Amino acid sequence: MMREYATSARKSELGPDEIMERALRSVAPEVLEIERCDGFRSMSNLDWWLRDPAARPPADVAALDWITGGPVLDVGCATGRHVEALRERGIDATGIDSCPAAVELATRAGYDCRVGDAWQPPAGAGYAAVTLLGANLGIAGTVARVPGFLSTLAAALRPGGQLIVTSIDWRMSTGPHEEFVAAQLGAGRYPGDAQLRLRLGDAAVSTWFDWVWVDQDTLREAASTVGLRMVDVMSWRHHYAARLVA
Ligand SMILES: C[S@@+](CC[C@H](N)C(=O)[O-])C[C@H]1O[C@@H](n2cnc3c(N)ncnc32)[C@H](O)[C@@H]1O
Repeated sequence: MMREYATSARKSELGPDEIMERALRSVAPEVLEIERCDGFRSMSNLDWWLRDPAARPPADVAALDWITGGPVLDVGCATGRHVEALRERGIDATGIDSCPAAVELATRAGYDCRVGDAWQPPAGAGYAAVTLLGANLGIAGTVARVPGFLSTLAAALRPGGQLIVTSIDWRMSTGPHEEFVAAQLGAGRYPGDAQLRLRLGDAAVSTWFDWVWVDQDTLREAASTVGLRMVDVMSWRHHYAARLVA
C-alpha cells in the first residue's frame, strides 16, 4: 500500500549526504539502503565506490565508450569512479558531487572532483561531454523538472558537445516495482516521480528527497523541448544510457 510521504517520514535531522558520509567513513562499510516512498528498500553496494579491487563496475561504464575526448564533467560523481575510468582512457575528466565525504575519497584517490550542485555546473569550461551516470537523471527530482535540468547541463557543453544521461525505464518494471507503477498511475502521478530516503538499517534515516526515473520516450520528448536530440541509446534490462546532442 502506498504510504503518505509527508506523514510517514520519521523526524530526522540527517540529510542524504550525511547518511552517505556515515556509510562511506565507517571502518566496516555499513549497509546503505535506499527506501522508496512505498516502503520498498534496496541495498546499495558501496564496494565499487570504495575501490575494492574485487568489486564489479556497473554496466553503465560502457556508456563512456561514446566519449572520445575531453574535457568531461561527471555530475553526481560520488567517489570519482567514472572520472577515474575516463582518466584511465587518457580523457581529461572532472566531477562534482553534493556529498563532501564522497568528494574527499575522490580527491584522496587523486581525481579532480569538487563539491558542487548539479543545478549549477561550473560555467565557462565548454565541456565536450557532461555525464549523469548511476541513473543520475534522477537528480532532476520530478519529470516536470527534466527539461530545465537538461537545459542547465547542456549550457555547460561546448558546440558539438554531448550530454550522456542514465535512468531507469519504469515501463520495464517487474514485481514490487510493477505494483508501485500501478499505484502511481492510479493516483494520477507520473510513475517515475518518487520520494526516496537513505538509511543505515534502522540506526539512521535521512529526510525524504525527490528522485525521478524517466522512460525513454519521455526523455526524448523532454530533450526535444530544449533543443536536444536523443541520438543513441544503450540498455541493460530496465537501465539505459542515452546520448543527447544539440
Ligand atoms: C545514484 S548516486 C550515483 C553516483 C555515481 N554517478 C555512480 O554512478 O556511481 C547519486 C550521486 O549524486 C549525488 N547528488 C545527488 N544530488 C546532487 C546534486 N543536486 N548535485 C550534485 N550531486 C548530487 C549524490 O551525492 C550521489 O553521489
